Amino acid sequence: MTCTLESIDPFYAACLTLAASPRQDEPYQPVYARLPRAPITGSRVPHLTSLYHFHRTGEYGDRKWPGNCGGNLIKDLLNYFQPEGLVFDPMSGSGTAREVCEELGIPCIAWDIHQGLDACDPRDFPAAETFDFIWVHPPYWRQKLYADDPRDLSRSPTLEHFNRRYGQFIRNCKAALKRGGKLAVLMGDYSDREAGYMPLIYHTKRLAFDAGLRQHCTDIIRFSHGASSGKKVYRSSFIPGLHDVCMIFEKAN
Ligand SMILES: C[S@@+](CC[C@H](N)C(=O)[O-])C[C@H]1O[C@@H](n2cnc3c(N)ncnc32)[C@H](O)[C@@H]1O
Repeated sequence: MTCTLESIDPFYAACLTLAASPRQDEPYQPVYARLPRAPITGSRVPHLTSLYHFHRTGEYGDRKWPGNCGGNLIKDLLNYFQPEGLVFDPMSGSGTAREVCEELGIPCIAWDIHQGLDACDPRDFPAAETFDFIWVHPPYWRQKLYADDPRDLSRSPTLEHFNRRYGQFIRNCKAALKRGGKLAVLMGDYSDREAGYMPLIYHTKRLAFDAGLRQHCTDIIRFSHGASSGKKVYRSSFIPGLHDVCMIFEKAN
């Protein structure tokens, strides 16, 4: 009698002819995850929760600018916090936050190293106690390079150099906020080819706390819909990160 796999374990034998799941040759299909139901609160912006997704990026800024972020999160934060005075975006890129402020009728100052103003230099920074709300979306160290200017944070040669200047930048923001003012920072971790995994969200919190800011509310995990990396095929194995994080800090004193 011949001993076949089918005769020993017909179920396992049948598994061997099954297609891998999901089939590799199937076209990409989005996977829909069910989000937890959010409690009803007194919030003016009920859809603003710790898990943030928006099906459209919004018509703000220039999508072709490297690192451009959609304006809807900024709009939701401004509608939630309702700053009474000036808003500031010191690393404005294509001007996303400025355009959101224009639409909402909120006065806003926005500049970038591309206009020669270095947000990490206290001498370039606006006067103390000027702003109610600062929005910033800094470079994720050198994940993307921006200006040719060596003062550009993305041109920092080492993580230590980046953190030293990033820490000074956060202290500048603290000084320029009014008491009770908020600093919203959108930051992401990434894996650097040479230096390994960069926990930049951790460094942001550490530097903000060292500067004397306190965290005002939950982290907002922003899903990275439409990220260019989502269309790539990598030969190496890793756990893909599908989000960045918006942290809201407050100047309590
Ligand atoms: C992630 S991008 C911001 C993109 C912007 N949120 C948008 O939607 O277009 C980071 C920006 O920080 C700017 N930047 C880098 N270092 C800077 C510095 N030291 N001072 C001011 N801006 C800086 C870069 O030029 C770049 O435009």
